[in-house]
Amino acid sequence: MSATCPNTRPCAHVGATVLANELLAERTWRLRLSCPEVAAMAQPGQFFMVRLPGRTDPLLGRPFALYDTVLDGAGKLIGLEIVHLVVGRVTGLLSGLNPGDQVEIWGPLGTRFPEVPERVKRVTLVAGGIGQTPFLAYTRELTGHRGFGGAAPRRVADRVELVYGARRQELLAGLDAFVEAGAQVLPCTEDGSIGLKGRVTDGLDSGEKPEWIVACGPEPMLHAVARWARERDVPCQVSLETPMACGLGICFSCVVKVASSEQASGWDYQRVCVEGPTFDAASLVDLSK
Ligand SMILES: Cc1cc2nc3c(=O)[nH]c(=O)nc-3n(C[C@H](O)[C@H](O)[C@H](O)COP(=O)(O)OP(=O)(O)OC[C@H]3O[C@@H](n4cnc5c(N)ncnc54)[C@H](O)[C@@H]3O)c2cc1C
Ligand code: FES
Repeated sequence: MSATCPNTRPCAHVGATVLANELLAERTWRLRLSCPEVAAMAQPGQFFMVRLPGRTDPLLGRPFALYDTVLDGAGKLIGLEIVHLVVGRVTGLLSGLNPGDQVEIWGPLGTRFPEVPERVKRVTLVAGGIGQTPFLAYTRELTGHRGFGGAAPRRVADRVELVYGARRQELLAGLDAFVEAGAQVLPCTEDGSIGLKGRVTDGLDSGEKPEWIVACGPEPMLHAVARWARERDVPCQVSLETPMACGLGICFSCVVKVASSEQASGWDYQRVCVEGPTFDAASLVDLSK
């Protein structure tokens, strides 16, 4: 079923068949779905609501980022992939799916990553926890490996760096895929089991000053990266993983405070599922303190 979602962007609500379900890292699964109609519209930074059909518990879908699109041997778009960390009910059930099983998916939802300004030649992606998931499709787009949403592939950045942090090596998922997509990957682990010993901000300190940062991960990490960028005057976008109920702009369960000159308070609420999930870090009231 195709539809225009209440967020007015084209999206579809379809049943999708599981093509593969593979353990990528500790508690981290890559789910490949056959849904060419949704995949054809999806762009890096957008997400989907995924639900297990025929169940009332859990009733609601859960949001997952576009990880990658899937092409068949002849280069025809046949579906998409999400990568998820098992944390609760739905992610637990998704990890038990087998090829041929069905899920419900609606999307793509939210905004894509913003346009990279022409002067920017080096894009620095910063991921923590499961925050790497929106960045594989984005790396492919930035390096010109693949086009999304019907666009032809076009190289956007001379260099794409991924600073990817986790507590330990076993939690880092998909490093090879990022390298294959053309990113220079710097893993950062708190126990030093691979890459740089330390946090993603230590990783940022260790390299050339970034020109343009896009970050995704747990809130404390986003705070630290936003502060790091602010102190060095580096533009920083953040992709939020705020819990969501509807994903469509109706319930207002996902709002964040965004700076607004139109309000006496100096800020207004925006919905992460419609106006986001990506925001300029400097515009987010709670991140710019
Ligand atoms: C735009 C967007 C994109 C996302 N992309 C991905 C992705 O690509 N891969 C991925 O693994 N996850 C992603 N998430 C987070 C994912 O939606 C949640 O992990 C998922 O909803 C958990 O569902 P559950 O039923 O397994 O857990 P539940 O049973 O609902 O909850 C289990 C525990 O996890 C906590 N929790 C639930 N949702 C979140 C959340 N959003 N943030 C922090 N804690 C939470 C709950 O408070 C509870 O403690 C994304 C979230 C958003 C908003
Ligand atoms: S999740 Fe319902 S408005 Fe965003």
